[in-house]
Amino acid sequence: MKCEVVTTRGGARAVLDHETGEVMHPVVGPLVESRRLYVDPSRLAERLAEPAAEPLVLLDVGLGAGSNALAAWRVSEALPPDARRLRIVSFDRTADALALALEHAGDFALDGAPGVAAHALLAHGSHDTPRTTWRFCPGELPDSLSSEAAEAADIVYWDPFSPRANPTLWTLTAFRALRRLCRAGCTVHTYSGATATRSALLLAGFYVGVGVPIGEEKHSTYAAVSPSDVQNPLDARWLERVRRSSAPFPSDAPSDALAQLERSPQFAGAGRA
Ligand SMILES: C[S@@+](CC[C@H](N)C(=O)[O-])C[C@H]1O[C@@H](n2cnc3c(N)ncnc32)[C@H](O)[C@@H]1O
Repeated sequence: MKCEVVTTRGGARAVLDHETGEVMHPVVGPLVESRRLYVDPSRLAERLAEPAAEPLVLLDVGLGAGSNALAAWRVSEALPPDARRLRIVSFDRTADALALALEHAGDFALDGAPGVAAHALLAHGSHDTPRTTWRFCPGELPDSLSSEAAEAADIVYWDPFSPRANPTLWTLTAFRALRRLCRAGCTVHTYSGATATRSALLLAGFYVGVGVPIGEEKHSTYAAVSPSDVQNPLDARWLERVRRSSAPFPSDAPSDALAQLERSPQFAGAGRA
C-alpha cells in the first residue's frame, strides 16, 4: 500500500492511500471520527460495563491505520479490571497504514501503551493485556471473514474505502458473510449511508437504521441482528426512496430485491407510505 500522512481540511492528521486516492477518516480526522462514528454509537463502554463471563468480540473490518481499533482498545483499557474483557479482531490485506501511523506516533496518539500494542500487532499478529486482546487477521476480504467462528461477534466496525474503490466490500455477498459471524445482540456500524449499502444489509438479514450525522444531509448506518437494537429504523418513507432511486441495490442483488425488501421483517406489514 502506498500511503502518506496528510493534513485534512479540518487540520487533523490522517493517512492518504495513493492507490484509491482516499483519506482514512477524512472529515474531522481519525481521533475524533473513530469515537463519533464507531465507538460511541456502539455503546462500547456501556456494553463492557455489563457483567459477562465471555469477552465482548469486536470485528474491525479495515484495520487501516488502526484508529477505530485503538479507539476501542483505549475504552477497554480505561475500564476497571472487573469490567468485561474486549477481544478485537482486525481484518485487512495490509498493515502498512498502521506501520506508517506508528512512524508518526505523535500525530496519531500512538505514544505510550497504544503504540506498544500496535507495534506488537505488527510484529506478532496479536497483543494481550489483562483487559484487551487484539488480533490481526491478514487477507483478502470478504473471504478472510470465513476464518472466524459463526455467531461470535457482538460489535462490527465496517470501514472499507468507498464502493468505487472497494466494490466487493459493499455487496450482498460481503454482508451475508458478515451476518454469519454476528450473534444475537450484535450491532454493525459503518460510515456509509448509501441506499445500496442499506439495501444490502437488509437483504443479508439485518435490521437497519439511520446512524449519526456525518455531513450535510448525510448520516452513517447502524445495523443489528435484533430489531430492538435499532433506535432509528429505516421506515416506509425510505422504502419509497428505494423505489425512486437510480442506484437502490448492490451489484449482486437478486432480480426480486425490491420484493425481498418489502417482505423483510423490517418492512412486512408497513405497506406503502
Ligand atoms: C478506510 S481504510 C480503514 C481505516 C481504519 N478503519 C482506521 O480506523 O484507520 C480501509 C482499509 O480497508 C482495506 N481493504 C480494502 N479492501 C480490502 C479487501 N478487499 N481486503 C482486505 N482489506 C481491504 C484497505 O487496505 C484499508 O486499510
